Amino acid sequence: MPSRRSTKVAEAKRLLILNGPNLNLLGRREPDQYGRQTLKEIEDQLRSYAASRGAEIRFVQSNHEGALIDAIQSTIGWADAIVVNPAALTHTSVGLRDAILAANIPTVEVHLSNIYRREEFRHQSLIADVAIGQITGFGAFSYLLGVQAALHLVEKGRS
Ligand code: DQA
Repeated sequence: MPSRRSTKVAEAKRLLILNGPNLNLLGRREPDQYGRQTLKEIEDQLRSYAASRGAEIRFVQSNHEGALIDAIQSTIGWADAIVVNPAALTHTSVGLRDAILAANIPTVEVHLSNIYRREEFRHQSLIADVAIGQITGFGAFSYLLGVQAALHLVEKGRS
């Protein structure tokens, strides 16, 4: 006799992981600053971690501000949370900031390097106060922490 107990399938958790200018060069770009892992290697790790947590990830990297804004807009209605390393646009982009505000999707800002230990112009983030929080300085591990924080937000929001 099949059990009548309902098999409640956990709702999928969906994350957009967004990477800004020059992060496609990770692995060979200033390795002392950003480490030797490529973006592809980082993405592969995040994808399998997310799968172990029942989450699906969409990755977008672009060197163009408008393409990143388009990616945020087109994820409205799909993503439950965003993890973003805006790279240099962290310090300059009102457009990216406004897109995060407009999308109204909980966002975690991540950086490989500790932006507060570097040049003064990197100390200002136009994203920090529209994000739920910021993770900075842990190398590639910042992304994993970012994904964990984002999943925590999604799960907290659903409980
Ligand atoms: C960065 C820090 C930014 O200041 C810089 O422009 C980057 C990478 C980081 O991950 O440490 O491109 O976002």
